[in-house]
Amino acid sequence: MAQPLSNETNAIIKSTAPALQEHGVAITTRMYERLFVDPAIKALFDQAAQVSGEQPKRLAAAILAFAKNADNLGALSAAVERMAARHVETSIKPEHYPAVANALLPAIKDVLGDAVDERVLNAWGEAYWFLADVLINREAQLYAAEQPCAEPA
Ligand code: HEM
Repeated sequence: MAQPLSNETNAIIKSTAPALQEHGVAITTRMYERLFVDPAIKALFDQAAQVSGEQPKRLAAAILAFAKNADNLGALSAAVERMAARHVETSIKPEHYPAVANALLPAIKDVLGDAVDERVLNAWGEAYWFLADVLINREAQLYAAEQPCAEPA
């Protein structure tokens, strides 16, 4: 189970979320530039785009929007279900999560520059991993449910 964020982290997220969302398009664009340097990661999205016919820009927007609700997971449960289902459809695995963190956090710094310091970036890193843990756990349940039952011994 994901560890709840500290009060201090929550306060930093809530106070910086509006600025991040204001620059959301720039941050998202930069994040994908960084993410798609890895052809294996890009392929996951190319495959998904063919299925949905949409650009997967919602992902970064969702991270920015949902982190604000990290202290109110109940409000996120429908969204978590939808994201986890989409991730399972597109074969997203726990090992893919560091790539998004490693693209998103530097993208925030690239766009906002000196307006964000180490403390703020660390708080967003914690919020990202909090959400990632919630999704990874739910996705593990969904993948397990897809497996045929083991033969009884
Ligand atoms: C905390 C981390 C993450 C969050 C909050 C998140 C959020 C989302 C959201 C909101 C969607 C759209 C769901 C829908 O409405 O259909 C989505 C889809 C998707 N995500 Fe994630 N995601 C995360 C991590 C990842 C990672 C690590 C990968 C792979 C590197 C990934 C790959 C995808 C793909 C391929 C789609 C489908 C895009 C499409 O429908 O065109 N996500 N994610």
